[in-house]
Amino acid sequence: MKIARVTLSDRAANGVYADASGPEIERITGRHFAETLEWIRVLLPDDRAQLEAALRRLADDEKCPLIITTGGTGPGPRDVTPEATRAVLEKELPGFGEVMRQQSYAQVKTAILSRATAGVRGRSLIINLPGRPSAIGECLPLLMPAIAEALDHIAGFRPRLAQL
Ligand code: MTE
Repeated sequence: MKIARVTLSDRAANGVYADASGPEIERITGRHFAETLEWIRVLLPDDRAQLEAALRRLADDEKCPLIITTGGTGPGPRDVTPEATRAVLEKELPGFGEVMRQQSYAQVKTAILSRATAGVRGRSLIINLPGRPSAIGECLPLLMPAIAEALDHIAGFRPRLAQL
């Protein structure tokens, strides 16, 4: 199963520090899916045009059934991930963001600062996650059953989930 992960971070893209969030998406997704995963890895600055172009390429040309972004979902002036995502979506699935905010809020009161969303472009499911590596561990496992169900509807196959 082909999966793309896209990290949005000015500082990681400029080499100020290493991207820890993209590898964390791989680690957690790999634990939950009982499928062989082929990863496409993208690291971008917080730039709306670059992200829109990357999401179009990953969905339309690479035909990734699942595209997961991390970072750029907050309230800062450079945070443009939800806007870029909405611009390429054909259908929004607001429940993914709602659950992340609601469930994370029990542990992390700043969870409400994330504007992460999700949705469908063609036969691809695109999901935003917050940028902190710890946030990925707090959010992504909650979404796995809905990701498997959504892929059945969108891409025509249901990935097998690991028994954890
Ligand atoms: N959600 C979880 N589960 N854990 C977190 O640590 N951080 C919050 C929020 N959501 C956080 C979280 C904070 S502090 C911010 S600013 C927003 O996500 C946006 O983060 P981003 O701009 O890196 O995407």
